[in-house]
This record gives sequence, C-alpha cells and structure tokens, in this order.
Amino acid sequence: MSKEKVYIFDTTLRDGEQVPGCQLNTLEKIEVAQSLELLGVDIIEAGFPVSSPGDFTSVVEISKAVNQPTICALTRAVEKDIDVAADALRFAKHPRIHTGIGVSPHHMKYKFNATPEQIVERAVAAVKYAKKYVEDIEFYAEDAGRSENRFLAKVIEAVIAAGATVVNIPDTTGYCLPDEYGAKIRYLKENVKNIDKAIIATHCHNDLGLATANSIAGVINGARQIECTINGIGERAGNTSLEEAVMIINSHKRLSLETSINTKRLYPTSRLVSTLMRMPVQANKAIVGRNAFAHSSGIHQDGVLKKRETYEIMNPKQVGVNESSIVLTARSGRAALKHRLTSLGYKLDQKELDEAYKEFLDLADKKREVHNDDLMALMGKTARHDRKIQLESLQVLCGKSAIPTATIRLKYEGQTWEGTDTGNGPIDAAINAVKTIITTKTTLEELLIHTITRGSDDMGKVHVQVESKGKVFYGFSANTDIITATIEAYLEALSQVV
Ligand code: KIV
Ligand code: ZN
Repeated sequence: MSKEKVYIFDTTLRDGEQVPGCQLNTLEKIEVAQSLELLGVDIIEAGFPVSSPGDFTSVVEISKAVNQPTICALTRAVEKDIDVAADALRFAKHPRIHTGIGVSPHHMKYKFNATPEQIVERAVAAVKYAKKYVEDIEFYAEDAGRSENRFLAKVIEAVIAAGATVVNIPDTTGYCLPDEYGAKIRYLKENVKNIDKAIIATHCHNDLGLATANSIAGVINGARQIECTINGIGERAGNTSLEEAVMIINSHKRLSLETSINTKRLYPTSRLVSTLMRMPVQANKAIVGRNAFAHSSGIHQDGVLKKRETYEIMNPKQVGVNESSIVLTARSGRAALKHRLTSLGYKLDQKELDEAYKEFLDLADKKREVHNDDLMALMGKTARHDRKIQLESLQVLCGKSAIPTATIRLKYEGQTWEGTDTGNGPIDAAINAVKTIITTKTTLEELLIHTITRGSDDMGKVHVQVESKGKVFYGFSANTDIITATIEAYLEALSQVV
C-alpha cells in the first residue's frame, strides 16, 4: 500500500521563539532555517512580521537564504498585518501567509467581543485579502480545541471557499484529549463539504503533555500537516515535538504515512536549536534527550549487547545519535565493560578482564559515569602490575597554613619501606618522600597533569618523564586522586631505572 505524505510545518522560529529568554538574532535564525532545510521540513514558519522589525527582517533574510521549503509568515486577520507579511515574503521562492482568528466561545467573547457571524466574516475577509498577494494561504482557527465543532466546520468551509489551501486546527491551550482532538479532525473531514480542497493541519500545545499524542490522533483521522517545533519548544509547556511526531510516523508502518524528514539530521538539529536558544534538552526527552538511547543497568546492557532490539525500538543512528548506547556505571556488568574495551582496541582474556573489572568498579564507585578516557587510563594503569616498585600507601597533609608533608610506603625488592618528607606542595612532598627510599639519581624532567574536564569527580591523568644517565623513562597513571596518580606514574618511570 502506498504511503500518504504528512507535511512537516516547523514553527520553531515563530511559536518556538516565543519562549521567554530564547530570542534569536537574525543570523542565528538563518542558521536554524538552513538546518531545517537540511532536515527536510516542508514549511518553515519564519516569524510574525508585523510584531517587530526584528521579525520582519528575519522573514526577509530567511526567504533569501532558504530555497526548498515554503516560507510562511504569521498574521492576525488584519489587513495591515497581511500587507507587512506579504512585503516580508517578497524574496521567498514559495511564500505562504498564515492568517486567522479565534473561534472558541472564550476568544469570540473576551478577545474580540464579536458574534460568531462577525468572526466568520472577518476570517473570510482576511483570507480573500491575503489571496491578493500569494496563492498559498493557511487559515488558523485559534483555540479550535475548545471550539464547538459545528461552528468550527462552518468557519472552515467558508475560508476554504474564500481560497484557503491549508486549514489549521490549533489546540491553542493544550486542553484536548487525543480521542477528542482526533474526533474533531474526523468531524471536519466528514462535515465540511469542500474539505478535499485543503490540507488539514494539526497545531497542538503541550500544556497537559499531550501535544504529540494529539497531533498523531489528528493525522490518524485525516490531517496531513503537523505543526511542530524542534525539541518541542514553545510558549508555556511548548508545542508538538517535531522529532517525536516524525519518529512515530516512521516507526509505525501500519499508519501508512511518511514525511520527507531526513531523520539522521534530527539529533544535530536538536543540538543546534538547544545551543542557540540556550534551552537545554531534558535528559529523558524522547528521541533527542541525552539518555534517550542510554542503557545503564547491567540487565539491559546485556540484553542490548545480545540484540539491540531487546530494549530499543529505534536504531540511534537513524536519528543521528552515533554514540555508544551503553553507559558504564557501577551497575554495569563485565559484558558491557568487555564490549567497550574491545571497541577501544583492547583484547583481554578472562583473567585480565576480571582484573580490569575490579578496577573499573572501584572507579565507577567514585564516579557517576566511566568514559572512554577513563578506561584508557585504567588500562594503562592495570597493565603494569608487575613493575619493580609498588605503592602500598600514601598519606599527604596539605592545605592553607599546613607544611605539605607526605608519608609513603613502598614495596621494593621484596621489602616494605616507609619514608616521610616535606615539600613546597603535596606533590613535591610525595616525590621527596619517594626519594628518601629510592635514592638512585634521577631527574624529573616533565610532569603533566591533565585538566579536569567533566567535573570535580573526574580522573586526573598524569604523564611523567624521568631522566637517568642520559636516558628518558616514561610513566603514566590515572586516578580520581591526582597525587596518587602522580606518584604511581613516577614509580612506573623509576621502576624502569632501578
Ligand atoms: O497556538 C495557536 O493557536 C497559534 C496560532 C497563532 C497558529 O500559534
Ligand atoms: Zn501555537
């Protein structure tokens, strides 16, 4: 059976941009628009030109910068708004004017103080006026979610007769239940005589967390355009999330629907919008959240490693997420550790794996998540258990107004040795303490401590170079305690000298 197309109308730059504190400048909007074009959206709502000079300029510039998608500009059912929108769209290759008026009892009475008949008249007049400028006219019936279906059908029939090519049925306040919203769309399909001359659009807000469910109920019942935003951003609780709507259509083949979205661009586009709008994506957000494809419990990790589909209904690569879906934490098992180490190029036999796993658990207890860098550091550390000088214990006293003092216990040549010394800081004191035991003449040529990048619980990674009799010896270690890491690295280098 051939699939029917659902048009994706992105309103990130209009409804999405209404989020307080998320305003973008024109250049940023162009960047988002170009990313939406790459993503494959059919329509970009670029702004509400009469609302501000900034919005006007953005619609002009986006019209110039984008070729493929239709560029849409919002207006009220007011001639001045429509004039300004048409002017802003003058460079658009495919322009659309989006005009409309409130149709619910609340809107008609309190916002417009108008009778239903007057509302129909104004709606028709706006569509006819806009039609002077462009062929593609979308009409929105604001607060359709709370409107009475018979009256809504009357308005929709009248605006289609006046030339509307798309009719938008917004659940402006996010009030509808999915079956109710779906029934509303079905009602229009069945009761508006000329409905086959227009595309029905869903435009759902997320006040009750139902925006995506309502949009899908809408297309199941005959709508063929979904209005949505990247990451579901928008006023209050936001709009339908583009990535969710698209992946639902993509995943449920029995709907026999398709979109033109390049799903591999979903994640990069989500990151771009989140960064530019300074609006973090919640970690558990469907499709694009940090944890959307992350498995951290041992049982799930084992299942996913045996067959991904055990715990995943989508391949992360399909939505542009390339990272490993296995998060290494204290709850991970040997299977997950082995899998990650193998992908990093380490081949371990069972004994080596057991040893690495013990060290991994020690580290995972100290850190929330173990990263590839940590594992590489760990492997560097675990591979050198046979070195000549072993660190048994280290205690360091330091801090403001303390004299840095270290006491160290080493195992060397079958004996345990203890030494104490001071220094100009804790590392210097610890190295001096080692020197009270290992007296072979060496020079510490380089000591590199990697800066912490992921937080205060991260590992310190230390490289040292020790010179002896004209030769250089290297040592490396890593630990959440950087003084211990330094001494371990130092002892590794010294072990090659003595
Ligand atoms: O939510 C809404 O009703 C709208 C219209 C202006 C389309 O955003
Ligand atoms: Zn809206």
